[in-house]
Amino acid sequence: MTPLQNDRLLRAIAGEPVDATPVWMMRQAGRYLPEYRRVREQAGSFMALCQDDSLACEVTLQPLERFDLDAAILFSDILTIPDAMDLGLHFVTGEGPRFRKTVTTAEDVAALPELDAERDLGYVMNAVSTIRRELNGRVPLIGFAGSPWTLATYMVEGGSSKDFRGIKRLMMESPEVLHGLLGKLADAVTDYLNAQIRAGAQVVQIFDTWGGALSPQAYRAFSLDYMQRIIDGLIRENDGRQVPVIVFTKNGGQWLETMAGCGADCLGLDWTTHIGEARQRVGDRVALQGNLDPSTLYAPDDVIRSEVERILGEYGTGSGHVFNLGHGVHLDVDPDKAKVMVDAVHEFSAR
Ligand code: CP3
Repeated sequence: MTPLQNDRLLRAIAGEPVDATPVWMMRQAGRYLPEYRRVREQAGSFMALCQDDSLACEVTLQPLERFDLDAAILFSDILTIPDAMDLGLHFVTGEGPRFRKTVTTAEDVAALPELDAERDLGYVMNAVSTIRRELNGRVPLIGFAGSPWTLATYMVEGGSSKDFRGIKRLMMESPEVLHGLLGKLADAVTDYLNAQIRAGAQVVQIFDTWGGALSPQAYRAFSLDYMQRIIDGLIRENDGRQVPVIVFTKNGGQWLETMAGCGADCLGLDWTTHIGEARQRVGDRVALQGNLDPSTLYAPDDVIRSEVERILGEYGTGSGHVFNLGHGVHLDVDPDKAKVMVDAVHEFSAR
């Protein structure tokens, strides 16, 4: 393997000195890029794009051609796991993901197949190794998975939800059924992330997009504990370097002290938390990632630049910061605005 030419991301997460703050964007490959839309059209469907390793590699690299990013993120989706469990995933235009089968009873949970990631999700590992080969050491590759809780919301609700009434009802009426589902998902995610690491992922992120919809106690019992179990089971080395784990719980700002003990090396923050205060609360136990409001990319260039400068200033001096948006890039932003953000991160942090 070619040695890593840009290791800012790994260094920052490890708290080692960096020449500039590393930056990447959640959902950096996607529909806001016209070149993505062309490849997506060519593939026919979103899942077909994920399943074709050369096209998945092409769209993974597209944002790196435009912007001076310090990491690539595997092009795939968190819903590959429930898809491999034969729940009938499909995407309804304008409404997001949908499942033909939902999981709401003990029988449904028992019927879920036990996955072997290398066998059942081999297309993802092919994409990882193809991307690693094409990156040729330029920047590290981030692999990812959804948290058990976040995956379970889609599997129980049958798609996206605003109030999570179905899964919360299950949590209240039959918590043991939900724990059964989360346990199965934790095993599947552990195996899946380990397979990605063996295939070449150099960092992994767990997307806990909906953990912040829970009460503090329920967050711990139904989301954080399962992420901790996953992290405990991960292979933590690749090419002789540590493979750091990033945990992103959207709306998790109120629980950072607890989250800092889950084994993650870095916590992702959305924009509702002051990153300087967050740093004081977690100390040097974990690095922090974030946290520009993705809507800022609708603003004039000088506003984007001053917001970047503000966040870097709030974080303060010293390493341990990975710049990112507080959630995925919106699908209708002008790609040139993302460039303004990325360049401003390097410019202001290198001073
Ligand atoms: O960050 C990246 O660039 C890597 C790619 C990535 C995608 N999805 C591509 C995608 C990642 C990391 C995800 C994670 C994901 N998927 C999450 C967690 C992160 C988050 O944003 O909160 C969630 C909740 C999903 C589930 C999912 N998949 C949704 C809600 C959607 C949108 C459906 C729609 O039609 O708008 C998807 C589909 C999806 N995943 C798209 C992309 C680029 C758009 C599909 C398309 O191009 O047709």
